[in-house]
Amino acid sequence: MPVLFSVRSASADYEVISDCRALTDSAAAMRGGIVIADVYFEGRLADAGISAIVMEAVESAKSLDALSAVIVEMRARGAARGTHLWAVGGGVIQDVAGFVGSIYMRGMAWTYVPTTLLGMVDSCIGGKSSINVLTHKNLVGTFHPPRAVLIDPMLTATLSVEQQVAGLVEAAKICYCRGRQCFDEHLALGPRIGLAPDALETLIAHSLRAKKWFVEVDEFDRAERLLLNLGHTFGHALESASDYQLSHGIGVGIGILCALALSRELLQRDARGAAHELERHMRGLLRCLPDTARLVGAIETAGIFERLESDKKHEPDHHRFITFDAGGCVQVTRLPKTPESRAAVIRALHGTLESL
Ligand SMILES: NC(=O)c1ccc[n+]([C@@H]2O[C@H](COP(=O)([O-])OP(=O)(O)OC[C@H]3O[C@@H](n4cnc5c(N)ncnc54)[C@H](O)[C@@H]3O)[C@@H](O)[C@H]2O)c1
Ligand SMILES: [Zn+2]
Repeated sequence: MPVLFSVRSASADYEVISDCRALTDSAAAMRGGIVIADVYFEGRLADAGISAIVMEAVESAKSLDALSAVIVEMRARGAARGTHLWAVGGGVIQDVAGFVGSIYMRGMAWTYVPTTLLGMVDSCIGGKSSINVLTHKNLVGTFHPPRAVLIDPMLTATLSVEQQVAGLVEAAKICYCRGRQCFDEHLALGPRIGLAPDALETLIAHSLRAKKWFVEVDEFDRAERLLLNLGHTFGHALESASDYQLSHGIGVGIGILCALALSRELLQRDARGAAHELERHMRGLLRCLPDTARLVGAIETAGIFERLESDKKHEPDHHRFITFDAGGCVQVTRLPKTPESRAAVIRALHGTLESL
């Protein structure tokens, strides 16, 4: 099993392994531990003799209330502090397992097998878990990196177009934030719907190497890693206001367009550099989902703005957004909470939604 690289972490370094038979190769180890899995994999795991705690990958599974049932089930199955925890699924399962794994008996070791492209290109490294509280998306969470990440690109073969777009959006975001060369290299890999697993393997490795830089230089999200929130303040607000009809990656894709529009408002002209290519790429990906404009059109804009205002990343007197500078580089921007800046944010939001 080729080790792609290891990630340096304050708790313990961990390996990212490319394994095109991840579920089969790990079956024996999983049978000796506790497995939390997306219900989509229930049958496949059962065929390998693994009885997993399964859940639907929906936002409500990431709520504090839903977690109690998982914890009680782990206890019923005899999970102890030394039991190894396995997570098989996309970002929802990762968030649940990462969070539960960090608090159950004050923490247990875990291994993650991402099954969505978004999980493979982005969320599987960095050690963050995020849980929703009422309407507040990702309000609580922990840093609890897995002991290992097993990536099996073959698992992407059954993903919907929406799930493929979601992963490609996050991969493009990471590579853009890492710098012009990294983004150009990403575009040269021809990121699009329907890529074969071996082409995706290269794309996943490229995106993860870019993300590795951010999580090693700023593991706890205080400076450089904040840039990876590009598109996320708008994106989370859209996801939540749509009652999660819009998935995370799609919300982020639209959110990146909103961030470009907000930058245009602030600069009074277009950002240069590779910003134009990023916009074209995002619009191309979103066009693969003809339903997006209808879904977005059905959302009440007041609801989006209300959620934008309550985002946890803002400060008491300032909104915080990731924007583009004149040269197209991403930066953290603090906007005073004045009527003028609120109006600029609303114009950016409206203009973007109308352009979809
Ligand atoms: N912790 C982090 O660092 C982090 C980072 C990014 C996103 N997230 C969170 O992740 C969530 C989104 O995760 P996601 O986009 O990976 O998807 P997901 O976990 O929400 O799953 C999306 C859908 O894909 C299905 N699915 C999963 N694997 C499949 C496969 N191989 N074939 C067919 N269908 C499959 C699921 O059953 C589900 O219907 C959001 O809640 C987001 O906030 C967390
Ligand atoms: Zn994201």
